Amino acid sequence: MDVGIELPWIEKYRPKKLSEVVGQKNITQRLQYYTQSNTMPNLLFSGPAGVGKTSASVALAKEFFKENFSQNFLELNASDERGIDVVRNTIKNFARTLAFNFGFKIIFLDESDALTFDAQQALRRTMEMYSKTCRFILSCNYSSKIIEPIQSRCVIFRFNQLSSKDIGERVKGVAENEKIDLSNEAVEAIIYVSQGDLRKAINVLQASATTAHKITDKTIYEVSAKARPDEVRELIKVALSGKFLEARALLDKLLYEYGMSGEDVITQLHREMVAMDEKEVPGKTKIELIDTIGEYNFRMVEGANERVQLEALIAQFTKYKK
Ligand SMILES: Nc1ncnc2c1ncn2[C@@H]1O[C@H](COP(=O)(O)OP(=O)(O)O)[C@@H](O)[C@H]1O
Ligand SMILES: [Mg+2]
Repeated sequence: MDVGIELPWIEKYRPKKLSEVVGQKNITQRLQYYTQSNTMPNLLFSGPAGVGKTSASVALAKEFFKENFSQNFLELNASDERGIDVVRNTIKNFARTLAFNFGFKIIFLDESDALTFDAQQALRRTMEMYSKTCRFILSCNYSSKIIEPIQSRCVIFRFNQLSSKDIGERVKGVAENEKIDLSNEAVEAIIYVSQGDLRKAINVLQASATTAHKITDKTIYEVSAKARPDEVRELIKVALSGKFLEARALLDKLLYEYGMSGEDVITQLHREMVAMDEKEVPGKTKIELIDTIGEYNFRMVEGANERVQLEALIAQFTKYKK
């Protein structure tokens, strides 16, 4: 298999129709009504990464425009490194002319919440100016970062994280099509590391396929530079039982053998701590430690030495030895 010259799988397996967008049934159904009536308002798609916001926009536009899709659809990223003026000029050039064989064009603006307040004000004026010829689909992670006058000009659609079932099924479908040998544990591992983000899930699968013929959960954790959940649990348990040096050795394994970043380690510590039950860690201790993890995470984000902070965090855990 020569993955090098292939399309990235996230593009190869991008839904071409609204009906192929998984896990967002409420949304895709409502979007289908628009295509049936050949009209739509401006839309605001909010939600986490890799859940189908761009895919739904492209699929919607394809269903409206069919063979004239490329003339009538413009995709832009608001955080374009060439600056907001380039974005604005591109929009103006595109919006100036009438749609080809259709009532309106569609401009899809990704990462709209990256726009400053002033840029959003300008965008709002642009939306008004071209309201006859263009519809906008704005995509963002947090709709609260979009100014009120834009929100009120859009119908808001909130995309959810994809379920484990949806991720698992989609990943298995891709693996089958690519003739990859993927164990069930590997599927579970992909679900764990991708956390509802199908883009991440498919990327991890493709990266794994370049390194191994038979993909196991071990491959997945290696490729995604994540520890197995049980290894992180083990670290927490050892630390809680007061064995600092042993816990530190486990930490070293994550940092140096697996090459995890300090931030990844602390994120997984947090995730596993939250998931631990009353038998593993008493409720009160758990709450205190979640608070402590938050504090050390903040220190690391602020630039403190990662290793020093992680060891100090583990030292905090050992204080809860029964
Ligand atoms: N809901 C979904 N249904 C099918 N494929 C999806 C879905 N969400 C993400 N994907 C896959 O992940 C890739 C990236 O998704 P995208 O729509 O760009 O996510 P977003 O815009 O929400 O960050 C797509 O090309 C597709 O392969
Ligand atoms: Mg996107």
